[in-house]
Amino acid sequence: AQRRPLQVLGQEYPSDDYSNLPSSILSRLAPRPVLPYTPSHPLTLLRNQIESHLSRSTAIRAPSPIVSTELNFGKLGFPEDHPGRSPTDTYYLNRTTCLRTHTSAHEVDVFSEGHDRWLLTADVYRRDEIDATHYPIFHQMEGACVLGLDAYEPGGQVERECEEMEAHLERAAIEIEDDVDVQEAGGWQAEHESDPAKLNAAKLSMRHLKATLNGLVLELFGARHAAEAASSPLRVRWISATFPFTSPSFEVEVLFRGKWLEILGCGVIKDRTLIEAKRPDRLGWAFGLGLERIAMVLYSIPDIRLFWSKDPRFLSQFSSAAEEPQTSKAEASVALEAGVSAAGGSVHAKPKLVTFRPYSKFPPCYKDVSFWLPSAPAPEGDKATFHENDLMEIVRDVASDLVEDVGLIDEFVHPKTNRKSKCYRINYRSMDRNLENDEVNAMHEKVTKRLIEELGIEIR
Ligand code: PHE
Repeated sequence: AQRRPLQVLGQEYPSDDYSNLPSSILSRLAPRPVLPYTPSHPLTLLRNQIESHLSRSTAIRAPSPIVSTELNFGKLGFPEDHPGRSPTDTYYLNRTTCLRTHTSAHEVDVFSEGHDRWLLTADVYRRDEIDATHYPIFHQMEGACVLGLDAYEPGGQVERECEEMEAHLERAAIEIEDDVDVQEAGGWQAEHESDPAKLNAAKLSMRHLKATLNGLVLELFGARHAAEAASSPLRVRWISATFPFTSPSFEVEVLFRGKWLEILGCGVIKDRTLIEAKRPDRLGWAFGLGLERIAMVLYSIPDIRLFWSKDPRFLSQFSSAAEEPQTSKAEASVALEAGVSAAGGSVHAKPKLVTFRPYSKFPPCYKDVSFWLPSAPAPEGDKATFHENDLMEIVRDVASDLVEDVGLIDEFVHPKTNRKSKCYRINYRSMDRNLENDEVNAMHEKVTKRLIEELGIEIR
């Protein structure tokens, strides 16, 4: 088959067997992230709060989401067969170019530009399931701090900052569970272990990372938690994790309204990343957090599609609180990063606690689709196996923001023919208006038609 080149954001990209960008995504691509910079937007509110808390860091607005697979994966040490690279999970323009799947894609570039302490905000893209908390475009913030070995000397900058932040955490109503064994979290890097000064710096960097992020969690959740559950401290826990570009690596969870919520991934940056960035003299940490996930719980936003709403009933609720903080830089610096603002003796006006009041929910309308999976492998090879994300993608492409969730409700294998059957329930609902029956039927018919054509399934 003849493949036409793709035109994306004014540039042409040859397409190949990896190209899988649907029009629903294409139409939303912008040269720079938009939502977390939109006035009165909850993501703007949250980004501002994080940037003013970590005020020692330079705030960077990410460039275009189109990146080389080298930047997104290769330079960060993702092995060739890492599942994250699969076209079932990642949007590809072609084999060498994709939409960034995480803000870490910019680590190497930002370090090589000479930034040591920074926060970068970006739109990121992942093929995934459809429900109230998943959307193929979401936003992450990456934070990092890399310093020269002298900063890690006893009594030096890092140790002083640790002491300041830890003293603040001691006084705050926060309970930190951290019994992760470094070995379990990936262990110290060989490059660090072989040099006592580096090993010492890596240990201090991990302590600095923990104090910084415990302080950030306290800043984001502390006041809200205290208002709702004054008698119990805010609980945070550290869990071991694995990322190809950090070691040791961790995930941080916070207990909020009775549920453990995973809010970020982090770790001590692998030497290879800093060598790749031509900063071999630096050592430090990085973290990446998902903005929607945090905003949804903090502001009680029930559905991730609402972030894309232009409805004034949504945006107006965040308007007064979303103003840029008026704090002067000098006032903000030391005190804020050490988290003193959250201690009660506040050094600047805290953003008020915004809670979203849902406007009327419009009725849902669900349709089921039952089908047999392709029996014999199709000639194109890959298409022969059914991937749920391909189905999700087609539903998204047809119904756009009118689909609320899609779930597998039944599956079985025919005892005689051995053929596999699946049944999915597609729940259509608009956030802003009533859907007409005819409209839903037409969408569902289109979905069914494309499932047959593109996935080779057979309707039962
Ligand atoms: N990029 C990782 C993710 O999206 C998070 C991360 C960032 C982990 C920085 C470690 C360091 O899951």
